[in-house]
Amino acid sequence: MADILSIADAPERAIDAACSVLARGDLLGLPTETVYGLAADATNGEAVARIYAAKGRPRFNPLICHMSDRGMAEAHVRFEPLAEKLADAFWPGPLTLVLPRLKRSPVASLVTAGLDTLAVRVPRGIAGDIIRRFGRPIAAPSANRSGRISPTRAEHVAHDLGDAVSLVLDAGPCAVGLESTIVKVESGRAILLRPGGLSRDEIEAVTGHSLLRHETPGVLEAPGMMASHYAPDAPVRLNVTSVAPSEVLIDFADQPIIGKEQARAVIDLSPSGRLTEAAAQLFDAMQRADRLGGSAIVFAPIPTTGLGEAINDRLQRAAAPRGVEPQAGTQFG
Ligand code: TXA
Ligand code: MG
Repeated sequence: MADILSIADAPERAIDAACSVLARGDLLGLPTETVYGLAADATNGEAVARIYAAKGRPRFNPLICHMSDRGMAEAHVRFEPLAEKLADAFWPGPLTLVLPRLKRSPVASLVTAGLDTLAVRVPRGIAGDIIRRFGRPIAAPSANRSGRISPTRAEHVAHDLGDAVSLVLDAGPCAVGLESTIVKVESGRAILLRPGGLSRDEIEAVTGHSLLRHETPGVLEAPGMMASHYAPDAPVRLNVTSVAPSEVLIDFADQPIIGKEQARAVIDLSPSGRLTEAAAQLFDAMQRADRLGGSAIVFAPIPTTGLGEAINDRLQRAAAPRGVEPQAGTQFG
């Protein structure tokens, strides 16, 4: 099992330990405000290859590069004015921008999986401090095996990835709990590739335009796109109005679901009906529900406004038939 090091007691020591793991070309469990990442030096091709091996991830699915700030990102991608505006408004924070990659960028080609764009983001908190100290971008997908639930706690990482990761820094539960929102910026247009921890409304308030949604049938925008993802072991049903005694109910705002009193267990994502709280609890609730060993995990309806767009996106993948072919308009990682 990987070493887990809490950042609470000695953050400086944690930053040093993280940088030496990265400098050796090994893998680090990196806390960010969205989910825990499986991090490696983005300029070291062998280290990046270890990420794919540890996740069991299809080689063709590109990775997000984490930067300390826009200045670092400017050495790797080209910012048009709309991209600058979004970066200034939301970095550090849960927004990933897909931008044209500069030829001089030393990021390993395995990171982009052959695309001429690069996905970049500036995370909040200790991750930003580590990248600043390390001085180079860090490639990091979510620290789960491919297709599984994304980790929002250090224990999830150690549990799912075991020895493949040298060190997991523990910064407690992730504040946002959903992966970053991915937006591609191209010729003055912003295109939503993946809903996430930054809601559509917040982005549109800054751009002044409605965000385009990538959904051209048959065209894969990001190469790694699959319907089934975030899958717990148990089957998943959504928008239920009733629950069987053998099933675990994941509720939102204490809804009147038939059979609730007899359900194997009930986990309410936010008894007071707050979507930010539900987002932060979602993946941990799915992990806990899975360990309860019910015949299915069933979800009460969750509103689709604000962060509800990203929550419902993740739930649809969790409920999708497993092992199906990639579909347009869906992403995994
Ligand atoms: O919050 C997050 O975004 C977390 C934390 C660790 O930063 N990371 C994360 O990474 O969710 P991952 O690898 O699980 O998801 C990255 C997604 C994938 O669906 C991938 O296809 C897409 O980003 N992606 C990466 N580079 C891309 C590119 N150049 N063009 C389009 N999509 C890209
Ligand atoms: Mg992922």
